Amino acid sequence: MSNQKYRVVVVGMGKRGMHHATTFHANPRFEVVGICDIDAARLEAAKVKLGNPKTGTDAAKLAAEVKPDVFCFCTLPNLRVPMIEAAVKSGAKLVAFEKPVALTSIEAFKMKALLDGAGVKAVVSHQHRYGSHYQKIKQIAASGALGRIHTVYGSSTGWMTHMLSHLIDYARWYTGEPEAEWVMAQAAGRIKFADNHPSPDYIAGVVQFAGGIRGWFEAGAGAPDQPEVAKWWGKNRIGVQGTEGFAEVLTNGGWRALSRRDGYQSGDGAMNYEADMPPYIQDMADWLDGKAVHPCNFASAYKGFEIMAAMQRSAAQGGQVALPLTAPADEQALLKSVVAERTVLVSDPVNKKEFGLV
Ligand SMILES: NC(=O)c1ccc[n+]([C@@H]2O[C@H](COP(=O)([O-])OP(=O)(O)OC[C@H]3O[C@@H](n4cnc5c(N)ncnc54)[C@H](O)[C@@H]3O)[C@@H](O)[C@H]2O)c1
Repeated sequence: MSNQKYRVVVVGMGKRGMHHATTFHANPRFEVVGICDIDAARLEAAKVKLGNPKTGTDAAKLAAEVKPDVFCFCTLPNLRVPMIEAAVKSGAKLVAFEKPVALTSIEAFKMKALLDGAGVKAVVSHQHRYGSHYQKIKQIAASGALGRIHTVYGSSTGWMTHMLSHLIDYARWYTGEPEAEWVMAQAAGRIKFADNHPSPDYIAGVVQFAGGIRGWFEAGAGAPDQPEVAKWWGKNRIGVQGTEGFAEVLTNGGWRALSRRDGYQSGDGAMNYEADMPPYIQDMADWLDGKAVHPCNFASAYKGFEIMAAMQRSAAQGGQVALPLTAPADEQALLKSVVAERTVLVSDPVNKKEFGLV
């Protein structure tokens, strides 16, 4: 077993940056050698919890100085390309960053070109995959108990730039990561364009996957309540259906399945960062060691991103959008230019508060 210690820089000492940094610090295969934030107070507070690594307010400068093996950034979604550039320039072997992959395909095309051009591995934090309730649905879908899988769906009350990336990633995983052929969608509501996860208030669409698999996705104020789940951000349902049965997970509401072969089954489970982060981080060491490719690898996340971008293009421009995307576009600008001024209609009063409608 390799015991090489991989040197890590973590950029962004907010909620997710601290989850990443403390998990790297707790894993003997990694050493946090640098941390960065533009907020000096956050940096000082973080430093003492992470073995007093080097600190800096300029990520590119810090990475150039410490030359990490792993460049991890957990800044908000508006910052992607400059971080990938800094990572690649520093010679990092792996970049780990947060969802969503990007706000626009202009950025995503550049990111892909930079990473592929330099041969740098990358991982995107769709770490719900590590939840035992999420994994149960994967096991059932892969076991053949559902027969021929023909439908997959994902629904979240949280808005697009926060949640859609998660829904699509897990739906692709449950169906064996089929290629998406085309997408068609609609969007409504302008309140969350001003958010730090800029989004239409509601987006909903269909995806045609290879192998005759239909995907249904929706995120935001018009998505249904999930009455089994109390925590608003956990009201996400992802499910898969086949000729012999169904299975679905709720982010904060366990899982259930019904199939001809195994009858009715169910279990608990709630998304838990403390449980999900250690194996997510360990799989980075394994990938760097040359063992299995990380399940949350960029190539897979990028396919999910294309679906998300295509939904936005369809909502803005109408009709079906063929995949893969062949030319970049600014999906944010496209949506902002056409989504009507009309206030979004909620599916349930439970959605009003987070959209400032009460
Ligand atoms: N995977 C998940 O389950 C999950 C959950 C929540 C958030 N997220 C994602 O994580 C990302 C970060 O979210 P968060 O909640 O941790 O945000 P946050 O606001 O708590 O933290 C962001 C940090 O980045 C810092 N920052 C901003 N610009 C910077 C720069 N140029 N250089 C260095 N630092 C800079 C900020 O000062 C802040 O400390 C987002 O993309 C979000 O969508 C993912």
